[in-house]
Amino acid sequence: MNNRPNLSEVEYLNWREVVHDRCGIYFTPSRRHFLESRLWERLQHRKLKSYTEYYHFVLYNSDGDHEWGQLLDLLLNNESSFFRHTPSFTALTEHVLPDLMQKKRLLGINTFSIWSAGCANGQEAYSLAIAFLETAVSRQYQLTVWGTDISQRSLQTAKKGIYKPYDIRNMPPPYLQKYMCSTKAANGRRMVYQLNDTIQKLTQFSALNLTAPERYSLPQQDVIFCQNVLIYFQPADRKTIVERLCDHLAPNGYLFLAPAEMIRLKIPDIRQVKLEETLIYQRERR
Ligand SMILES: C[S@@+](CC[C@H](N)C(=O)[O-])C[C@H]1O[C@@H](n2cnc3c(N)ncnc32)[C@H](O)[C@@H]1O
Repeated sequence: MNNRPNLSEVEYLNWREVVHDRCGIYFTPSRRHFLESRLWERLQHRKLKSYTEYYHFVLYNSDGDHEWGQLLDLLLNNESSFFRHTPSFTALTEHVLPDLMQKKRLLGINTFSIWSAGCANGQEAYSLAIAFLETAVSRQYQLTVWGTDISQRSLQTAKKGIYKPYDIRNMPPPYLQKYMCSTKAANGRRMVYQLNDTIQKLTQFSALNLTAPERYSLPQQDVIFCQNVLIYFQPADRKTIVERLCDHLAPNGYLFLAPAEMIRLKIPDIRQVKLEETLIYQRERR
């Protein structure tokens, strides 16, 4: 039986504000019950009596920051898959990477930087590394793929690079053979798949809150993917983050959003690239 008490209006508004201030996610009334169920799970775990008591714990207890991390992991949606949005990966391999490689060759630059912002369990970052290696002449460039996320739990999974059969469902079979090795899971019962060293060495994972006020601690990027992250953000917050991501594009660099995350963007030197079923912006060279 569910004996969960309802969040009062004041409790809902207080929690909505804290979550929004700390990570940008905005709990609309339609997601209030989801918020309530996650708070209830954590406050029971802490043996506290009410949402308000739990609120004070997270804000003022010496263990509050740790507890916030636990709660955050329950609030976030870290669903992902390899090569998730096919039109974006097609645009990347057929248009964006050849264009950037040609420009870099002319400029005598041999480094390449790609950022998966909101990388969840790492599938997007690893897909970007594979897509890059599969592009002709990629070996002439030294690649770094940065994967960042606010969730420590997701980052731990990403760093291991080990996935269950369901997780690799979209991985093209030739890439599976080329870039992953299958082994028995620790319990010996089922198979798991691990990215090989070549791919793991190209990727770096670290914590980064896209709504944090300080400047993002990453170099300028040739390609940024930020897909299915801004979906729970308010339009004004989406706009601020997208502007900051654009600010992190190297000259000629491309930003990939998910088409459903369309926002009105008017930034000098940033133009929309019209490629089918995608939402891509490019910084024009200054
Ligand atoms: C649904 S997953 C998307 C993963 C991947 N980009 C994809 O498209 O498959 C959304 C990710 O955004 C992360 N996220 C949410 N808010 C964030 C924030 N403020 N800063 C950084 N990452 C955030 C979540 O932790 C989650 O891993």
